[in-house]
Amino acid sequence: MKSTAIAPSNIAFIKYWGKKDEVLRLPENGSISMNLSNLLTTTTVEFNSSARKDSVTINGVQEPNDGNRAIKHLDRVRNLANLSQKAKVVTINNFPSGTGLSSSSSGFAALSLAGAKAAGLSLSEKELSILARQGSGSACRSIPDGFVEWLDGVTSETSYSRSLYPPDYWSIADVVAIVSVGKKDVSSAEGQKLVNSSPFFPVRRSHMPQKINKMKEILKEKNFQTFGELLEAEALELHAIMITSIPSLIYWTPGTLKIMKLVKKWRSEGLSVYFTINTGQDIHLICEKPNIKNIVTKLKEIEEVKNIIINYPSIGARLTQNHLF
Ligand code: PMV
Repeated sequence: MKSTAIAPSNIAFIKYWGKKDEVLRLPENGSISMNLSNLLTTTTVEFNSSARKDSVTINGVQEPNDGNRAIKHLDRVRNLANLSQKAKVVTINNFPSGTGLSSSSSGFAALSLAGAKAAGLSLSEKELSILARQGSGSACRSIPDGFVEWLDGVTSETSYSRSLYPPDYWSIADVVAIVSVGKKDVSSAEGQKLVNSSPFFPVRRSHMPQKINKMKEILKEKNFQTFGELLEAEALELHAIMITSIPSLIYWTPGTLKIMKLVKKWRSEGLSVYFTINTGQDIHLICEKPNIKNIVTKLKEIEEVKNIIINYPSIGARLTQNHLF
């Protein structure tokens, strides 16, 4: 059977960085995120008894099969479904990959849902989240709707994501500034392996449970200023760990830094906006809906900004009949 899924990327307010189990992708700490309405991956999967090998095409380019993470993920689906057939996978992202927009989260969430359905499995949201997590950690947060918590867990069965609030719970936005389309030189998966080399990681690890509780309290109250302050401090703490890893991981470019400084300036002038950054140079500006226009106008004046993508809180992975082949 052929199945197609659309999945959103997500932006973490409290980040995942470091694993306590490499193989199962169990994170060092839980995390909290929001699904993004306009950063989407669409994936069609078809298992076929006459195909002799798997084929994976991403944005029109056929990927090599050796060491291919998507094929490893198809193996997980085949194991669950007790299936041996090879698959054809076609994927398109509506945004650049490898620049800090988390295409692996939307990618593995879409592949999990389309793959499971095409293999004849009918998995619960929790089971899909567990499957997606094994492809790419943050992908498990792109399965449920809206504002999402990933429970770190101590086993595969206890490490999954669940929705805290639906998309219409809070009218905030993520205005993404694409600073350049150059790909990062160290992937998230590789960068995370260095986490224990930062002398500051034990400090981070020790206060993560309190941080998660704090973020959940703030989400309950919907106080935008305390929310913004915590999310920006969290992004800077994540990058402090990256910068002090050995070898160091520096994902910012001059354009990233310029926008970070401007966000602080705009705040001092009364505009309520906060930034967060993942692995890459692109920067996410979080604001309340009425401030979007003002932020976009300001971003358009910055030479380094190549593109702007406005995102609202979104539903998670879903099936569609619009197959890609
Ligand atoms: O799931 P990965 O391996 O792409 O790692 C995601 C890491 C961050 O984006 C930096 C943080 C997060 O929680 O999304």
